[in-house]
Amino acid sequence: MDLLAAARDVREHAHAPYSGFKVGAAIRGASGGVFVGCNVENAAYPEGTCAEAGAIAAMVAAGETRIAEVSVIAASRRPVPPCGGCRQKLAEFAASDTPVTLATTGGAAQHTTVGELLPGAFVSDDMDPGAWE
Ligand code: THU
Repeated sequence: MDLLAAARDVREHAHAPYSGFKVGAAIRGASGGVFVGCNVENAAYPEGTCAEAGAIAAMVAAGETRIAEVSVIAASRRPVPPCGGCRQKLAEFAASDTPVTLATTGGAAQHTTVGELLPGAFVSDDMDPGAWE
């Protein structure tokens, strides 16, 4: 399945009445399944969730915990940069060299990786005394 097309399709379902900024995200899990998410805003603004968070939740709910590839799309000036929180959420389930495609609905795309998006991510090993003591 074309991951960017999946992100573009799910973006149509975004609930973004407050920002007017619809985002779609698609993740290919390590076992090949594709999981999608869109942003879901709320009248209580901080309760809104990002597209990437929705796709990650769908992946984990399906029993998959490794990300092989990510695509994110929005009608943005430049290929949509994931927020800081979503960079950390992606890093939880992906290797630093995991490919990420950021795109605009106008056809621009930027190819990057989870590690480039969040160098020096805080990871579970950072809490493991055995890893450094
Ligand atoms: N948003 C995402 O869903 N993903 C991103 O990568 C950037 C921002 C959403 C959150 C909010 O609903 C709207 O875009 C404006 O910030």
